[in-house]
Amino acid sequence: MKRILAKQAIKRVGEEVKLAGWVNTKRKMGKIIFIDLRDASGIIQLVFLPESNKEIESVLESVKPEYVIEVQGKVNSRPKSQINPNLETGGVEVEVKDCKIISSSFTPPFTIDNEIIPAREELRMEYRYLDLRHKRMKDNLKARYELIKNIREFLDSKNFIEIETPCLTKGTPEGAREYIIPSRIYPGKFYVLPQAPQQFKQLLMIAGFERYFQIARCFRDEDTRGDRQPEFTQVDLEVSFLEEDEILDLIEEMIVKSIKAVYGDKKKIKTPFPRLKASDVLKKYKTDKPDLRKDKNDPNELAFVWIKEFPLFEYSETEKKIVATHNPFTMPFQEDLPLLDKDPLKVRAHQYDLVCNGFEVGGGALRIYNPELQKKVFTILGLKEEEIDSKFGRFLKAFDYGAPPHGGIALGLDRLVMILQNEPNIREVIAFPKTADGRDLMLGAPDKIPPSQIKEAHIKIDLKES
Ligand code: AMO
Repeated sequence: MKRILAKQAIKRVGEEVKLAGWVNTKRKMGKIIFIDLRDASGIIQLVFLPESNKEIESVLESVKPEYVIEVQGKVNSRPKSQINPNLETGGVEVEVKDCKIISSSFTPPFTIDNEIIPAREELRMEYRYLDLRHKRMKDNLKARYELIKNIREFLDSKNFIEIETPCLTKGTPEGAREYIIPSRIYPGKFYVLPQAPQQFKQLLMIAGFERYFQIARCFRDEDTRGDRQPEFTQVDLEVSFLEEDEILDLIEEMIVKSIKAVYGDKKKIKTPFPRLKASDVLKKYKTDKPDLRKDKNDPNELAFVWIKEFPLFEYSETEKKIVATHNPFTMPFQEDLPLLDKDPLKVRAHQYDLVCNGFEVGGGALRIYNPELQKKVFTILGLKEEEIDSKFGRFLKAFDYGAPPHGGIALGLDRLVMILQNEPNIREVIAFPKTADGRDLMLGAPDKIPPSQIKEAHIKIDLKES
């Protein structure tokens, strides 16, 4: 007999079926034993009546939570009084005729059959494969998948194509520290993991694709916070020949349609998203990430807002110099170009952030496509000719071969899903996140590597013994 999923049993009342999965709970009521069986589709109640044979009885004796079992039996409707409205399969149960153990399990370090997830974060991360057995975690990852699927379909319908860009690459200036990878073949040289596919997506516009997107993994060596991970995912996209407002319209439509496709009418989204000037927002809300919800206790209210017209540059007190507000490729306002020499801090940029419920869920810009203007911006940023050449020379070369006007955005997918799923941090919506202090406790990373590998990478470890 072919195994079916718990959920499929709902439509098989009166039939013999085969099920397999994990023991969620086992309980005895008089002589009857109930097992809640869990599989990828959910939970279903198995009933073992006392007259079942001796073999089953001994199997039942030894079965414990998290054992993997396979059963055959008949699907029965439950009497009205015993219907469980909290279970999707709550109207049925399976009267088991045959049961065997496929795998046994140690007692898990925390309970899995409740949804509260009381365990310590460290324990959850060490046993993430068990933590992911919780329905809450499965629901989060399913919602994430559904959202990505709908975003993909939307972008596909708007003639975007998905293109993968490299992870072993050269640095890109997004303002964070980079992860570096030593080259074995080129001693003393390094690859850098991308903070974002920024330069590649711009080069794809120069290559003439016009509409690119990628569900892109990004890496930033910065201190982890609730809404930050060293490794995270962006819905990254870039288009050619569109105005700023056309890009915002497109993203807004994508977000509204995708959320509706996943959550139906459950989520309350106010459209159109307000488009506010950064300077006004700062004045009014004292932050550039205002939370514009009417009722902050309503888990389904989503208050998106575009913040635009950021200054192109800002003065960094820590670095004691002018830095780019977003990245150095952002297009200044045409009418502000004369200010570049006179008063650069007054120059406004075609830069926009998307904020939702007080979180920055996306950021993007129109880009400079004139090489002379780009060089000027680098000069204002205090970069010397040689530095511009060594950092960006090869990227800038492409702009001498016919660059279209272009712009784009990257949405922080993890943050968006965190908000949609009402989770307190992005670790809850990433299958295998790093801990708050940047470690993978499940597989044990970062870790030492053998001296032979270190030698091969042409690096020396300078570790003061403590
Ligand atoms: P930016 O640096 O603003 O722009 O990043 C875009 C969005 O990515 C999310 N994000 C993060 N999410 C989780 N953990 C992190 N460490 C993290 N850092 C950023 C945020 C942010 O809004 N290349 C540009 C985009 C562009 O101009 O098109 C970029 O990366 O939600």
